Amino acid sequence: MNETDKTMEFTTANLAAWEEAAPIHGRQNQAQLMEAFRKPGFSCLDEVETRRLEALGVAGKDVAQICCNNGRELLSVKGMGAARCVGFDGAQGFVNQGRELAEAAGLSVEFVCTDVYDIDEGYRLSFDLATITIGVLSWMPDLERFFSVVGDLIKPEGALFIYEQHPIVEMIEPADADAPIVWELPYFNKEPCVETDGLDYYSGEKYDAKPVTSFPHTMADAIMAGINNGLAVEHFEELPHHISNSRWNVENSGIGLPMCYTLVLRKRP
Ligand SMILES: C[S@@+](CC[C@H](N)C(=O)[O-])C[C@H]1O[C@@H](n2cnc3c(N)ncnc32)[C@H](O)[C@@H]1O
Repeated sequence: MNETDKTMEFTTANLAAWEEAAPIHGRQNQAQLMEAFRKPGFSCLDEVETRRLEALGVAGKDVAQICCNNGRELLSVKGMGAARCVGFDGAQGFVNQGRELAEAAGLSVEFVCTDVYDIDEGYRLSFDLATITIGVLSWMPDLERFFSVVGDLIKPEGALFIYEQHPIVEMIEPADADAPIVWELPYFNKEPCVETDGLDYYSGEKYDAKPVTSFPHTMADAIMAGINNGLAVEHFEELPHHISNSRWNVENSGIGLPMCYTLVLRKRP
């Protein structure tokens, strides 16, 4: 089996697991989000993300979000005055939730259900800005090809904004605020990690979940994959706050690890 087929085998299996999780997330979030988005100007973006997007200037820009989930962040970006907005996600259930939220918000945002490795050629060079947030890179078996696909979506001199959990945090076993810190994996580990606990990172609901495989990438892997695919580093900041739902003990411990980062890569002309 060649690398492309192997990648697709992993992502197809993972997307089946995301599909299974979509109605579970929906039961927990959708009604609340529908109500929130009915109010004009609602944004789910935190201060860090908002400030960085304002600095990049989203008003009037064509924006894509890769692995957009239910689109709540992209809808918030649209609310900041972005022009064409397209969200790509491989789980139809999340795409449907995104469309429903867009309708509630009265905002025109397109949602496309596709594996990111299979995004239609027709979207090439279509966007001034692409965004990737919280919990995407570790699902990508082939980071180089991922950045190649995403880089292709961006117009020359356009930007890619990434707001992600820091990979160092992913070495630690997820736990509640008062649980001890258990260092589970070496930072330079390259072995894929298979889990069967399910993808309900909102309430931890247990169900008979399909297995998912995640892929460890160091901070340098992410930055270099961007550079190797025609993108130049414009901004990089490691930050101490927690942006996932899973490692409250690390934030609580005060040991001072970077918990997330913002990275802006600019497409070379
Ligand atoms: C952790 S969620 C992203 C959460 C989002 N940033 C938010 O806060 O709502 C990861 C998303 O990536 C999508 N995804 C994972 N692998 C994918 C792939 N190969 N192609 C397209 N979407 C994928 C999943 O369906 C899921 O919606």
